[in-house]
Amino acid sequence: MKIAFVQMNCVFGAVDRNLFQASQLMDSKEADLYVLPELFNTGYQFTRKDELNSLAETIPSGLTCQMLLKIAARKDVYIVAGLAENADGKFYNSSVLIGPRGYISTYRKIHLFDDEKLWFLPGDMPFRAVQIGDLKLGLLICFDWIFPEAMRSLALDGANIICHSANLVLPYCQDAMVTRCLENFIFAVTANRIGAENRGNKSLQFTGKSQITAPDGTILVRGSSSAQEVGVAEIDPLLAWDKNITGRNHLFNDRRPELYKLR
Ligand code: ACM
Repeated sequence: MKIAFVQMNCVFGAVDRNLFQASQLMDSKEADLYVLPELFNTGYQFTRKDELNSLAETIPSGLTCQMLLKIAARKDVYIVAGLAENADGKFYNSSVLIGPRGYISTYRKIHLFDDEKLWFLPGDMPFRAVQIGDLKLGLLICFDWIFPEAMRSLALDGANIICHSANLVLPYCQDAMVTRCLENFIFAVTANRIGAENRGNKSLQFTGKSQITAPDGTILVRGSSSAQEVGVAEIDPLLAWDKNITGRNHLFNDRRPELYKLR
């Protein structure tokens, strides 16, 4: 199958424009699964509660999910995309998984980064991989990457591919994903933003370099730091089933949790 990151520049508050950009980018290259950045439709830096009130959407009845549902049906593809969720007045930094036959699932970011803690509640549901035909997808959002437990939980739940929607501002993730993928023997698609966002008294520069990483840590595709682009890799997701690293070493069965300090 073909998996893709959609690396784009998002403009804060310009939902129609951002949706149009994302749609055009997805139309520019064929894939079976597209991963879009975190908060791709709204932009990243909220500065007031009323902005969140007006831009966050209900899932899946809001405008963004409805647009993504149409695109997924028209193209016969799966899409993972980050957006601000309004769940009865509770706000989450979420991502959705949408398929050709409809809405599938939502992940609410568990590890909030910096000022996100001013606006969003942390995710309230455990990490779960989602079955899609004969493979399983795991959703993560940006800063989740720094906690090895996040990807490990999804790998232990059987995920073959991690769909990682990001708005990265620190320089570490792309290289770290090599280890994250190797230690779980799993594929990952990190879809990052580019460009700068100036809001209030803060300016953030997003690092681009979106990446598709293979279970052995090979970087299959890496984007540039400054261009909108779609990166595609053709993979066999079932490769991620076999966790034997040598004839005598299995990544999960060889763990010794009884000797680990977990708290
Ligand atoms: C991040 O979690 N958006 C850095």
